[in-house]
Amino acid sequence: MPVMAILSIPAREQTVTDTVTIQQYLYSLGLAYEQWHPATPIGAEASNDAVLQAYDADIKRLQQERGYVAADVVNLSPATHDLEALLAKFDKEHTHNDDEVRFTVAGRGIFSINPGSTPVVHVLVEAGDLLVVPAQTRHWFTLCEERRICTIRLFKDATGWTPHYTNSALEQQYPAKGGDV
Ligand SMILES: [Fe+2]
Repeated sequence: MPVMAILSIPAREQTVTDTVTIQQYLYSLGLAYEQWHPATPIGAEASNDAVLQAYDADIKRLQQERGYVAADVVNLSPATHDLEALLAKFDKEHTHNDDEVRFTVAGRGIFSINPGSTPVVHVLVEAGDLLVVPAQTRHWFTLCEERRICTIRLFKDATGWTPHYTNSALEQQYPAKGGDV
């Protein structure tokens, strides 16, 4: 399975697929991006515990580096109860009081970042991509057309990612398109 994020900057009509360039650009915006590899291969039927175990070394390292204390696994798919209502909480520009830390185990999603002083950036994440959206960063999130993602979340306190909406409506100006960015 290819492991590759795609970054796009609509205002500049620019798309970036080179991992190092993506990492450097996101770093310049204050976001962390890494690629992780499982210690042992994990299948689509792996339990949440098996998923956490496979990435245990990177989880523990990031927890120590950034002070996160907990990790869990979230699976979203068309079978998820109230999937669209759940997604609707995060598809408008918002901030959180804590970092939003997401490692994509499987599936795909798009984080859209509004850095403020530079143009909006879409980051399509898929298997192997770790993204840290720092606290107070303006952003929104959508799934791709298959509506499916398995993600590891690292956090200090589950209440830290309550969305605080900016009501900018910027997500309408820069929509993340389903299967693309
Ligand atoms: Fe968020």
